[in-house]
Amino acid sequence: MKFFIDTANLDQIKEAQELGVLDGVTTNPSLMAKEGITGRNNILKHYVDICNIVDGDVSAEVIATDFEGMIKEGEELAELHEQIVVKIPMTKDGIKACKYFTDRDIKTNVTLVFSAGQALLAAKAGATYVSPFIGRLDDISTDGLNLIDEIRQIYDNYAFETEILAASVRHTMHIVNCAKIGADVMTGPLSAITGLLKHPLTDSGLAQFIADYQKGNQ
Ligand code: G3P
Repeated sequence: MKFFIDTANLDQIKEAQELGVLDGVTTNPSLMAKEGITGRNNILKHYVDICNIVDGDVSAEVIATDFEGMIKEGEELAELHEQIVVKIPMTKDGIKACKYFTDRDIKTNVTLVFSAGQALLAAKAGATYVSPFIGRLDDISTDGLNLIDEIRQIYDNYAFETEILAASVRHTMHIVNCAKIGADVMTGPLSAITGLLKHPLTDSGLAQFIADYQKGNQ
């Protein structure tokens, strides 16, 4: 399972990269705004800065909602750096744009996916990644993990190569459950990734080992 971090915060991206388990980064317009990155040139520069920190794929989202606009923006993003994946919304024009980029060997991430049917269309258009938002489904009392399960079944039935990128991951159990279902990738906050480190028995066991060592080596 690949681990992506879902942020535009360079310090957090560095921290995850230094942990040695990071496979990529996802961003979106809200995450860029949260970091105060505004203006086209600053946004483009920020994507390059992210690519220079991590080794893997970096999703950069188009703002345009029409086909021509997405193509223009997506091509500009893809030219920034070889690690850039063009992130496209799950709309009619988005699917057309996805197919356009697939035909030109440009990686894509179809985002804002909330149903198995949408995921099927994204795979048909050759998306590199499909991003079902599990946390936002949970928010409206729907089982986000069930969607990952459905997409896994559909993609396996037809050996689609599109990778299931579980997005809107909020906590460690989302990660563990996505791994059990077989999501190819998860993207979440640093807190969800580092949360995987924690167990009280690890802490108490380590404290005991250190205490016993000190008793015997006084
Ligand atoms: O990966 C998608 C993500 O950025 C959305 O997360 O927590 O805003 O639903 P959230």
